[in-house]
Amino acid sequence: MDPGKITSSIQLPGPGDSTLLLQHLVRIQAEFNYIPDKAVADLSSSLGIPAAEIRGVIDFYSFLHLTPRGKYDILFSDSITDHMLGSRELITDLTEKLGVTVGEVRGDGRVSVDTTSCTGMCEQGPALLVNRLAINHLDQQRIEQIARLIEEDVDLADWPKEFFQIDDSIQRQDILLSSMASATGASPDTLTTLLSPEPDNVLDILQDAGLRGRGGAGFMTAIKWRSCRDTAAEQRYVVCNADEGEPGTFKDRVLLQRYAHQLIEGMTLCAHTINASKGYIYLRGEYLYLLEHLQAVLQERRDLGLLANNISGKAGFDFDIDIHLGAGAYICGEESALIESLEGKRGIPRKRPPFPVTHGYKNQPTVVNNVETFIAASQIILHGAEWFKGAGTEQSSGTKLLSISGDCERPGIYEYAFGTSIRQVLGDCGAHDTLAVQIAGAAGVTIPSEQFDRSIAFEDISTGGSFIIFNSDRNLLDMVQNFTHFFAHESCGFCTPCRVGSSLLKDLIDKLHAGHAGHYDINELNRITIIMRDTSFCGLGATAPNPVIQTLTNFPEIYERQVQHTDYEPAFDLDAALEEARQVTHCFGPEAHIKS
Ligand SMILES: Cc1cc2nc3c(=O)[nH]c(=O)nc-3n(C[C@H](O)[C@H](O)[C@H](O)COP(=O)(O)O)c2cc1C
Ligand code: SF4
Repeated sequence: MDPGKITSSIQLPGPGDSTLLLQHLVRIQAEFNYIPDKAVADLSSSLGIPAAEIRGVIDFYSFLHLTPRGKYDILFSDSITDHMLGSRELITDLTEKLGVTVGEVRGDGRVSVDTTSCTGMCEQGPALLVNRLAINHLDQQRIEQIARLIEEDVDLADWPKEFFQIDDSIQRQDILLSSMASATGASPDTLTTLLSPEPDNVLDILQDAGLRGRGGAGFMTAIKWRSCRDTAAEQRYVVCNADEGEPGTFKDRVLLQRYAHQLIEGMTLCAHTINASKGYIYLRGEYLYLLEHLQAVLQERRDLGLLANNISGKAGFDFDIDIHLGAGAYICGEESALIESLEGKRGIPRKRPPFPVTHGYKNQPTVVNNVETFIAASQIILHGAEWFKGAGTEQSSGTKLLSISGDCERPGIYEYAFGTSIRQVLGDCGAHDTLAVQIAGAAGVTIPSEQFDRSIAFEDISTGGSFIIFNSDRNLLDMVQNFTHFFAHESCGFCTPCRVGSSLLKDLIDKLHAGHAGHYDINELNRITIIMRDTSFCGLGATAPNPVIQTLTNFPEIYERQVQHTDYEPAFDLDAALEEARQVTHCFGPEAHIKS
C-alpha cells in the first residue's frame, strides 16, 4: 500500500449511522494522530451517541488516542517471536537515537515509540508499525535509516518502498493452496459454478465434506450456515473474521494478500446459500496495508457483475461487502465481540446463547467464519466433498494452514493434511534441537519433545494455525512471561476473574522471573489459573492461564529452578526502596532499616 494514500482509502461512512462510529474514529485518528475533543463533540451530535460513550470506545481500542501521538507513531511488535529475533535491543537502539522514552511522545511532537501486541509478521520479524503500516526484517541498519528519515521529517510516502514489502512466505502447499495456484484475478466462470447448485445441495456437500471452522473452535460449517438460513429474519449477514490476533498466526494475512478473490467467492457462496445481501470483512488494524488491495478487488468484482446487484446474472441475487477496520484489540477476534465492534462499540463479548447465527449483527442471523473457512468452502463446492475428504482424518477432513515461526530455518506458511505429526512439520521447516512447540497461540498448548509424534487434528492438537518453535537454548519462562503480559493487556476488563486474574498471573510470573518467588507463589499460580479457567465470562479469560498450566505440567523445571528455598518472599524490596529516604535524612543506623 502507498503510505501516502492511507486516509483517503479508509471508507468515509455516511452520517447518522451509529454502527459506523469506530470507522469514523479510525479515520480521524489516521488524519490527526489523535481524536480531538471537537471531533468527539461533532460525532456525538451527528450520531446521537453520548460523548462519554464515545470516549469509552476510544479508551477501549489501543490504536485510538485522546491526546496526540507523535507525527511518526512507531509501535514495535511485542510478540515472543519478535523478542527471539532481537526486537528489544532494536527498541533501545531506536529510542536512544531519537531521544524518546518508550510509551511517550517526544517533546517536539515529532515521534512516539511504544510496543503493541503481535502484528502478525512473525516469520519476517522483528517488525514494527509506523502510523499503522508494517515494516519487517528490522535490523540495526534499518533502525538507523528509520531514525534518519524521522529526524529529516521525510513524508512516509517517500520512505523506501522496500521497507513496506511484505512477503507471502508460502513454503508448502497441499490440496487447498495448490487448487488455487493457477487462479489469477476474478473468474466469472468460477462464480457461475459456485452459484449453480441449490442452497440445500451446497449445505449437503459441505456437510459431507466435514468442513469445520479454521479459526480455532472447529465448529461444523454446514451446521452454522444451515442454522442461520433457517432462522426467520429481515436480513442475514455474512462476516469474515480477518482479525487474526492470536500471537504467532499470520496465515490469514497471506490468504488475504494472495487469494482475496477466492475469499470473496466463498463469502458470496455463503450469502447465496443463506440468503444474505450484506457482508463485512473485519480486518485487523495491523493489516491496514491490505485495505487498498481488498477494496480494489471488491471494486473489480462489482465492475464485472460478480458483486452488488444481480450477481452473475442471477436476477434478485444482491450481495455486497464492506470492510471494517479493527483498532488494536485482540478480543475482537472472538465472534460476539467482533460483532459488537462491527456495530461501532467497544468489543465486549456478548452472553451466549443466543449465538450469532440467530442473533448476530444488528440482532439478525449472522454467519461469522474465518478467512480460511470461506476459502475452503468455495474450493469444496468447486472440487467436491471426496476431493476434500481425501486429505485428513475421519474427524478432521482436509488440510490446515500452519503459520510457522521461531527457531527453524524456513519459517512461513505450511499446508498439511490433518493428522500430520509435529515431528514431520519440524523436519520440513528445518527445526533442530527443539525443546518445545507452542501450538494454537498464547492460549494454546506447549508440547514437549516426547509428544512430537502427536498430530495436528481436532481430535488431538487443535489449532487456528499458530506454530512457534523453541530450541533448547531458550528459556520457556520468557514465553510464559510474554503471554501473561499479553493477556493482562488484552483482557477486555468486563469480568473480574479475567481482569484481576490476568493481572495477578502477570505479576506472579514477573516475580518468578526475577527470582523472588517461593512455594507460596507457585500455589497462588495454581489457584488463580483454576479460578480463571472455571469462572471467566468468555474464551479469552478461560484460556489465558493455559501457558502457565501447560508449562507447570510439561516443564516444571523452569519453575523449580527459579523458586527460592523460602516459603514466601515479597516481590517488592521495601528496605531497598527506603534507601533514598536514608540518603536524604542521613539516617543510616539499624533503626533506619526494615527488620527482617
Ligand atoms: C479470544 C478469542 C479470539 C479469537 N480470535 C479469532 C481470530 O482472530 N480469528 C478467527 O477466525 N477466530 C477467532 N476466534 C474464534 C471466533 O470466536 C469464531 O469461533 C470464529 O471466527 C468462527 O469461524 P470458523 O468457524 O470459521 O472458525 C477467537 C476466539 C476467542 C475466544
Ligand atoms: S473473560 Fe476477559 S476478555 Fe472475556 S469478558 Fe471477561 S474480561 Fe473480557
